[in-house]
This record gives sequence, C-alpha cells and structure tokens, in this order.
Amino acid sequence: DAATQEDLKRVSAHRAVDMVESGMTLGLGTGSTAAHALDRLGDLLRTGALRAVAGVPTSLKTEAHAARVGIPMLALADAAEIHLSIDGADEVDPDLNLVKGRGGSLLREKMIEGAGARFVVIVDESKLVPRLGCTGAVPVEVVPFGSAYTLGLIRKVFDKLPGFHARLRTVKSKASDRQEELFLTDNGNHIVEMFFEDGIHGNLRDISDSLLRITGVVEHGMFLGMATKVIVAKKDGTVAVLS
Ligand code: A5P
Repeated sequence: DAATQEDLKRVSAHRAVDMVESGMTLGLGTGSTAAHALDRLGDLLRTGALRAVAGVPTSLKTEAHAARVGIPMLALADAAEIHLSIDGADEVDPDLNLVKGRGGSLLREKMIEGAGARFVVIVDESKLVPRLGCTGAVPVEVVPFGSAYTLGLIRKVFDKLPGFHARLRTVKSKASDRQEELFLTDNGNHIVEMFFEDGIHGNLRDISDSLLRITGVVEHGMFLGMATKVIVAKKDGTVAVLS
C-alpha cells in the first residue's frame, strides 16, 4: 500500500544521508524519495550532528524545500566541488542505468549529478526494471521554439522501434480544468515523452547519441553510467546497495 512504499523511500533516503559528512557539498535531488533525504539533512543540521553542509538544488521545488528545512545552498557555478549527490529515479536497470525526470527536472539533475564525484540513487524496489522504458515515459527536454517540429524529428528517428510513440507533455491549465497546456520545465522548456513497448531493446548509448544530435533537443532522462551506488529498500525489510 501507499504508506509502505513511502516508508521504503524514507529508509533508502536515510541510508544515503548516513554517507554525508560535515563540510560536504551535496547535489540535492528532486522527487518524493529525495524529499525524505532533505528532511533528514535538515534534522541533522538542526541538531548539530552535521555541520557546514551545503546543497546544490536540482529544481526550484527542491530549492524551496531545502530553504524550508534550513539546508544552506550554493549555485552550481559557485560550488568548488560536489562531493556527493543524492536523488531518486523512475527506473533502474541491471547495469544501474536510470530513467529520471518524470517529475520534469532532468536537465538540472543531470548537470549537477554529473558534476560530482559520487552519485547515490535512492529507490524502493518497485523502481528496478529489466530494461529502461518499461514502466513509462522516457522524458526529453526540448526548447519551446518549434517543439512540435522537434517532436516530429524524434518520431522520425525512432519510429522503427517496436511500439514507439511520442508526445509533448501537457498539464491541466491553471485557468480551466478542461484545458490542457504544454508542461514547462524549471528552465522554461518543453518535454517530449517517448514510450517504448516493453522497454528499450536497442543500444542505450546509440539512442542517447541520436537524441542529442537532434537540434532542439536539450537533454534526455536516460542517465547512463552515472550512478555510483543504488540503495534499494525492499518490502521484506532488507536494503540492498548495488554498485
Ligand atoms: C524528478 O524529475 C525525477 O528525476 C525524480 O528523481 C524521479 O522522478 C523519482 O521521483 P520519486 O522519488 O518521486 O519517484
């Protein structure tokens, strides 16, 4: 049930925060699992168990949350070094490749988590998949100018893959419940959602390269070879650390 999954997210997040030492600069992830890590960090800073920790937030939402719980923050450009990043993921494959960004924050996440020495991923076991793209969309951040045209280019490249389809992410309009409008990322960009029947069977690096070659594509949500550790909290009460 929902409560149990929330508990697992918290267990995994707390395990990652155990790796934090005073004086570290951290990449602060986004999403419901990363939120538990922010709360825990805030508690440890408040009690003095941790000191002189600074965070680089991967989204505006995380920035607001970190401010609320009292985590000092740094801009990416001002962080001399990011010692450790902690973030959730939407999917983790057996090689520890990830799908991220179903919450829409993939670009800042990839910049910050790629900048650091260590990237620890926190998940409950429902995120483990045999292949990326098994359980939902692989998001691609595209510039808003001509985004429907860029969507067409993405379709052209991947249309031959079985069951492939793609669309621009929409959200309910704030003005009226019956209207949909294009989702905007923190960077003011649009998101193309790619769907693969039964996940991606092709070479992930090739697919990444083909996507990044399309003018108008900013970044995608496949995080290949970036995770140094994945902490998996399981329903049977055990925690697995994959690396
Ligand atoms: C945010 O855009 C994502 O990359 C999140 O890290 C990912 O969606 C996992 O979120 P949850 O921890 O809420 O499942």
